[in-house]
Amino acid sequence: MARADAIRWNNRYREESTFALREPRSLLLEIERWLPRGGFALDLAMGVGQNAAFLLQKGFKVIGVDISLVALQQAKRRYPNLMTVCADLESFHLPQNTFDVILNFYFLQRSIWDSVRKWLKPNGLLIIETMTLEMKTVKPEIDERYLLEPGELKQTFCDFEILLYREGWQERSGIHPRAVASLVARKPDT
Ligand SMILES: C[S@@+](CC[C@H](N)C(=O)[O-])C[C@H]1O[C@@H](n2cnc3c(N)ncnc32)[C@H](O)[C@@H]1O
Repeated sequence: MARADAIRWNNRYREESTFALREPRSLLLEIERWLPRGGFALDLAMGVGQNAAFLLQKGFKVIGVDISLVALQQAKRRYPNLMTVCADLESFHLPQNTFDVILNFYFLQRSIWDSVRKWLKPNGLLIIETMTLEMKTVKPEIDERYLLEPGELKQTFCDFEILLYREGWQERSGIHPRAVASLVARKPDT
């Protein structure tokens, strides 16, 4: 399965040159004020690195993990200071209490959420945005395992201090509208 995913994503990144032109996700720009002043950041399923690069610019040391070597090569070419790891996040281990910020944009793997909360330092910032079940209304073919239930993110991280939570439709020119849930939350101190 992981191998098939890697092949599929590698092919996509090889074919879609627009991936290389991406801007950081707008959520990241919106919540810039809550970012700590530097530290270690982890970008889960990083893709071509546009979000990680935003944190690099802010003075963070950033590790990006992705199953697609092609994406990581494109990211590294563009942002040489990025640290990259090619791995399947479903079977991936990191030390506890390591990261000041964790990004998780448009990759839903519920089995890693327990690890994600452990990888964050106390007071660390978790930033997640991905698609919700509402997407079925415009793209019925999407596999619902990769779509969030209503309120699911907020419920999952209800022990965190929730700084921002919302669900709704996002429009961007050139891209089909997307139903997403966005969460920005701080891990408790203890
Ligand atoms: C929709 S893209 C999102 C990329 C980036 N986070 C962004 O916001 O643009 C999903 C990413 O998940 C990666 N991915 C898919 N399955 C994965 C897995 N099991 N482990 C690690 N990365 C995976 C893909 O290679 C792809 O780069």
